[in-house]
Amino acid sequence: MKNTVSTILEQKNRKDKITMLTAYDYSTAKLIDEAGVNSILVGDSLGMVMLGYEDTLSVTMADMIHHTAAVARGCKDAFIVADMPFMSYQTSIYDAVFNAGRLMKEGRAHAVKLEGGEKMCPQIKAIAEASIPVVAHIGLTPQSVNAFGGYKVQGRDEEAARQLIQDAKAVEEAGAFAVVLECVPDKLASLITESIHIPTIGIGAGAGCDGQVLVYQDMLSMYGGFKPKFVKCFADVGEMMTAAFKQYIKETKAGIFPGKEHAFNMADEIIEKLY
Ligand code: KIV
Ligand code: NA
Repeated sequence: MKNTVSTILEQKNRKDKITMLTAYDYSTAKLIDEAGVNSILVGDSLGMVMLGYEDTLSVTMADMIHHTAAVARGCKDAFIVADMPFMSYQTSIYDAVFNAGRLMKEGRAHAVKLEGGEKMCPQIKAIAEASIPVVAHIGLTPQSVNAFGGYKVQGRDEEAARQLIQDAKAVEEAGAFAVVLECVPDKLASLITESIHIPTIGIGAGAGCDGQVLVYQDMLSMYGGFKPKFVKCFADVGEMMTAAFKQYIKETKAGIFPGKEHAFNMADEIIEKLY
């Protein structure tokens, strides 16, 4: 079944959890789509897990379009959300609409995601008015790492919690059709989920959200970097890959690979004439 804005909105009402995973390339997106996920996020986390940067700030529009288009070619049913990279929407409403449009036209995304609550509402409103579905992202917003002074849980004190609730209501009012809650205490995430009509998609925000999102390299233990508390390892694919790479090296050096079954044949009488 094809996932759309309306099927995702309906899921909140039916209390059917929305599943979202990141993907950044054709073959991984195809596997995730075929597994039946509701939505694929082409996250700007690609800067870290695919490109080896230490944060998401260096990711460009060209990077996002390149990877979103590859993901789109691998998807049949998943609803594709593309992240707006750092400085592609903060600078002006014009930039926000223009760059959101590029992710839709050139990347073939079905929606865009941007970081920020109340302060980003003018951008959210303008993008939504251009008929581009928008997902907001509040709580820990990694593009603000330098302003935050690190990656920390958000909304723990009363003032910050009130601001997060206000942010969630504001992005709904501005026209976002869903909101990602990152690194928010689970009870606060549940309260936010009950306080708004659009679905909440949590990462490090507990089980009370309407959906969950994870970076696929995190859930498969394929990323050597920092492992946050909210990550669950569903399979140690990193270890499996290392074992397979080592086996290939060993068999190639020992002359076990390639075997007869991997080689192409030709007539003996022809090869004899060549000697
Ligand atoms: O870039 C990303 O992968 C994200 C998710 C962690 C929500 O924004
Ligand atoms: Na992101």
